[in-house]
Amino acid sequence: MNNKSFYIQTFGCQMNERDSETLAGMLRDLGYEENPVRNRADVIIINTCSVRDNADKRFFGTLGQLKRIKGDRPDLVVAVCGCMMQQQHIIDTLKSKYPWVDLVFGTHNLHEFPALLGNVLGEREKIVEVWDQAESIVEGLPSQRKHPYKAYVNIMYGCNNFCTYCIVPYTRGRERSRNPEAILQEVKELVKDGVREITLLGQNVNSYRGQSQEENQGDAAGEYTSFAALIHKLNDVEGLERIRFMTSHPKDLSDELIDAYGTCKKLCPHIHLPVQSGSTEILTKMNRKYTKEDYLALVERLRDTVPDIAITTDIIVGFPGETEDDFEETLDLVRKVGFDSAFTFLYSIRKGTPAEKYTEQVPEDVKHERFNRLVDMVNRISAEKNSALVGQVTEVLTEGKSKTNPALFAGRTGGHKLVNFTANQDVTGQMVKVLITDSTTFSLTGEAL
Ligand code: SAH
Ligand code: SF4
Ligand code: F3S
Repeated sequence: MNNKSFYIQTFGCQMNERDSETLAGMLRDLGYEENPVRNRADVIIINTCSVRDNADKRFFGTLGQLKRIKGDRPDLVVAVCGCMMQQQHIIDTLKSKYPWVDLVFGTHNLHEFPALLGNVLGEREKIVEVWDQAESIVEGLPSQRKHPYKAYVNIMYGCNNFCTYCIVPYTRGRERSRNPEAILQEVKELVKDGVREITLLGQNVNSYRGQSQEENQGDAAGEYTSFAALIHKLNDVEGLERIRFMTSHPKDLSDELIDAYGTCKKLCPHIHLPVQSGSTEILTKMNRKYTKEDYLALVERLRDTVPDIAITTDIIVGFPGETEDDFEETLDLVRKVGFDSAFTFLYSIRKGTPAEKYTEQVPEDVKHERFNRLVDMVNRISAEKNSALVGQVTEVLTEGKSKTNPALFAGRTGGHKLVNFTANQDVTGQMVKVLITDSTTFSLTGEAL
């Protein structure tokens, strides 16, 4: 490689993946190339997540590996960023135990990265620059996108919900919405570049409140664009085929949004609707602001509008005070809803969150035993849901060759299910009709028609 090169390791959610695309774009504009081999890169960035303890552990493990490489190549720049950097105790640990880190920055000053890197290289000094709070949204940053046909689009940043287990409001700050014009412009440009599917990103997209640019400048009481109204605008973008979003909080899922599933052709028949627990008592302790019955009623309304909608969720097992009865309520809810798939998590204590102080922590062995029972049920239902699709014809956006078998193509259905399929010609980047011929717990097999 002639040019200087970079490698970015990303932990965490789609927000971090999107931020890493921005960092890659900035480095590309500085003349760097992406290096597929981490240990040979001139700049290594680790973009961190603090949502659970194992994400923390993996970060420190990775830093440990980088010590030797930095020892061999002192010119290497080791940069760390992301959610963990917004926690003072992590910064303190980095300063005292990991002196081979050159640059530390946070989620609120990502846009400063090129200048900070310049200072590190110019002065050969270590820099820690983390902002406590976000300032206004910075538009127009470069991007090097990971996928040619699908793209993440931020519509808002931060979270105001303060679920008692969750660190995100502390690492990502309060809710801020991008203005609708900036979002539309980004989507139109993506479509021009060949993107067919967008996923709108926010910690709670239902509370999107977009203020238009013109109104920002005027003094009239501003009209806001709601999330559902934004979807309607995006549905009109020519050349765009699919719209997805994540994540939506059940407490704010509006009728207007449910109706959008009926009226916006491009909105995929899928919703990721994290329930967290099936016990109303635990939901109250989690500060989720809905009951088990509220959630079930939402599912019913969604299915009344879109009978074949795929519903996926997140569930936490072993939140403080969770009894066997509470856990049975979760199993009951999972059975009643019949999720297409679910991400299941063992509750993990997060420093600085209210639940850290809750006394009735559930013993590890009990947590694991419940977790296994839940995963068994979730997987059984996923397998049933997938096998019900065998024999049906469904539309798939082809992303490329299958990772498991290069003779096949791979893509996702509107319901976000992975399909590996045969086709007579290269259909990469195209929407194709696929006959589903077989299924497993996690994927489908088929033939392009
Ligand atoms: N904003 C999204 C969630 C972001 S975090 C939402 O509200 O839907 C992704 C998931 O991680 C959460 O839905 C939750 O299930 C899980 N999670 C968050 N904090 C956790 C913790 N302390 N322990 C275990 N799982 C947690
Ligand atoms: Fe965390 Fe709750 Fe906000 Fe999601 S809604 S990011 S779980 S505080
Ligand atoms: Fe992790 Fe931050 Fe996302 S804590 S889950 S990377 S918002």
